[in-house]
Amino acid sequence: MTIIEDIKEMQGLAEATRQKGLKIALVPTMGYFHQGHLSLMEAGRERADLLVVSLFVNPLQFGPGEDLEKYPRDGERDARLAEGVGVDILFNPRGQDLYPDDFQTYVSVENVTRNLCGASRPGHFRGVATVVCKLFHIVKPHLALFGQKDYQQLVTIRKMVRDLNLDLEVIGLPTVREADGLAMSSRNVYLSQAERISARALSQALEEARDLVRKGERRAEAVLGRIRERIQRLPETAIDYAGICDPETLEEVAVIAGQDLLALAVYIGKTRLIDNCLLEE
Ligand code: PAF
Repeated sequence: MTIIEDIKEMQGLAEATRQKGLKIALVPTMGYFHQGHLSLMEAGRERADLLVVSLFVNPLQFGPGEDLEKYPRDGERDARLAEGVGVDILFNPRGQDLYPDDFQTYVSVENVTRNLCGASRPGHFRGVATVVCKLFHIVKPHLALFGQKDYQQLVTIRKMVRDLNLDLEVIGLPTVREADGLAMSSRNVYLSQAERISARALSQALEEARDLVRKGERRAEAVLGRIRERIQRLPETAIDYAGICDPETLEEVAVIAGQDLLALAVYIGKTRLIDNCLLEE
């Protein structure tokens, strides 16, 4: 595995790879890899000749007072794990190169970023779309892989790709969970032992909601009420949002019809965790 920091070097290699008729897959990450990242890399490995993983903790997607400074980082461990699943290039650009001092161009995807995390984290998806668009121009992938845990991010990137006519395929893969259901996240490392137990409430609440819907409940408010009640019962938890939305527009629905999205963001102590599921008919 080669580690590349230089943007021009990455672009040159991507161009040469394309000229040979080879296929490039990109897995964009902020590092501190867990099985969720590794499963995206494995899926990319199967689908492409050159597998690139980008590792960059993107300051543009963190708001004031969020965890940019303490976001977990371990470059050496990440490099070992990436190499272990057959990554060809670990692209680790320098912040100053991605965002030079006079940087002033942003990508803003509108409607699908208004709700859910977009409402609680203003500017977050502008930061995500901007860095992902830049990575697409640098790595020139034929396909890019993202986890469905960040469902709104996935929808946002799909919209950006469609609206800006970017010539690549976006693949979303299922959330990878711990044995007790907790969605894997680099931020799980912040949880104390007691908080880790409370954190199970997110996936349990989603399961309960799916069950209610399977049994015939169609009123979004009734389902959300049960979820709120379940989560608020636990110590150290505070709901940021719980919403049921159309899975493509991400607009809230009052009546559940088909595969609507149930998305949650919950503070467990000071750690904000997200999770979601599709509610089947
Ligand atoms: O999902 C993430 O880790 C980040 O939001 C991404 C897509 C790498 C952009 O910084």
